Amino acid sequence: MPTKVVLGAQWGDEGKAKIVDYLAAQADVVVRFQGGANAGHTVIVEGETHIFHALPVGVLNEGTTCVVANGVVLDPEALFSELDELSKRGTVVEPGQLYVSSCAHVVMPYHKALDRASEAQLGSGAIGTTARGIGPTYRDKVDRSHAFRVMDLLADDLTDRLRAAVQSKNQILIAIYGAEPLKADEIISETLGYAERLRPFVTDTSLYLNKALDEGKMMLFEGAQGTLLDIDHGTYPYVTSSNTTAGGACTGSGVGPTRIDEIIGVTKAYMTRVGNGPFPTELLNDEGERIRELGNEYGATTGRARRCGWFDATIARMSARVNGLTGLALTRLDILDTVESLKLCTAYRHGGRLLEEFPADPRVLETCEPVYEEIDGWCAPTTEARCVEDLPPKAMAYVQRIAELSGTPVAYISVGPDRDETIAV
Ligand code: IMO
Ligand code: MG
Repeated sequence: MPTKVVLGAQWGDEGKAKIVDYLAAQADVVVRFQGGANAGHTVIVEGETHIFHALPVGVLNEGTTCVVANGVVLDPEALFSELDELSKRGTVVEPGQLYVSSCAHVVMPYHKALDRASEAQLGSGAIGTTARGIGPTYRDKVDRSHAFRVMDLLADDLTDRLRAAVQSKNQILIAIYGAEPLKADEIISETLGYAERLRPFVTDTSLYLNKALDEGKMMLFEGAQGTLLDIDHGTYPYVTSSNTTAGGACTGSGVGPTRIDEIIGVTKAYMTRVGNGPFPTELLNDEGERIRELGNEYGATTGRARRCGWFDATIARMSARVNGLTGLALTRLDILDTVESLKLCTAYRHGGRLLEEFPADPRVLETCEPVYEEIDGWCAPTTEARCVEDLPPKAMAYVQRIAELSGTPVAYISVGPDRDETIAV
């Protein structure tokens, strides 16, 4: 199997985990390269639901090595609670099956407090973050003064440095946000505990990954969030704080672009978004409500109701461009099985002009009108389909039209949440 990056081509929650889990059967190594516990990656195997925030979904596969690489912001609390939950369910992950980069930055309790406080202060202008401390941790990484990498948790000066950091963050919490200060001693003792548990998993993951590739190992990169949440290419400022796009797989792992063969953009057969920001094809009516209920579109991390809308090919083309997509994984086709008539957004209209390319300016995006093409629904179940010939012709016509409008072939179609409910095209 060639080296593949699987990433979100929309606003997150596209079903990346389901596709990674499906492909992980052939993978020796699965790598998370950006984001943190803001991800909510749901996998259903033999009827059992697993939700991962911090761990790569490859942990469910015996014989697959999982890597949390340098570009991730690591939340030790989330990581260990997932490992503990897995071991309760009978899967014990040993060092050697999971590697954590010594260069990954660490999410501290004050990052979460700052995330919450900042969102509260922004009020109606809030980003709608997951409150997992993602933005404040990446901010400290770029800022460089009070950041902690995994290697710093294992160093002798941890206590002194952490005490100084908590003091400094408390000043901000009190003076800027009028929030409660945090207790340095509690954070220090908790962090020392995590550091000891982390120690056997820590390594230079860039070195490990490149050696694994030299040995011919099959590698999968598991993206979190989605292209439209990318800090550079997304709907800024309503984005996350990392590069969710294909380039992030390289900077976030220390594996060069020449070693990657395929980039799979996971995209729902419609669109959803959680959190605030523009969404041109959003359905603020019964149709949107119906898709939400059919798809049970509620967040895996925060439980929030997801905003729902029609598939937007303008976005799919932009995603194909910035990621260099080699294929699409089209998910949740089955959710549309009972919808009589579907719409595909092919372009936008803005101030009397037709825009065929996704506008970078959110002010333009906010005031765009989607241009739709109507397509007949197939009104037949698709969940039992295991090859394209099993799909109703009208469902296949919808899939083909998406490929055409996106300029990207469809490589996989998901017709249900279970691992088996997948078609390789
Ligand atoms: P997965 O990996 C959907 C959204 C938040 C908010 C914005 C910034 O499951 O697809 P952050 O906490 O990252 O600072 O929030 O990004 N967001 C997601 N939306 N799926 C996710 O992850 C997301 N992770 C963050 O709702 O709008
Ligand atoms: Mg999710």
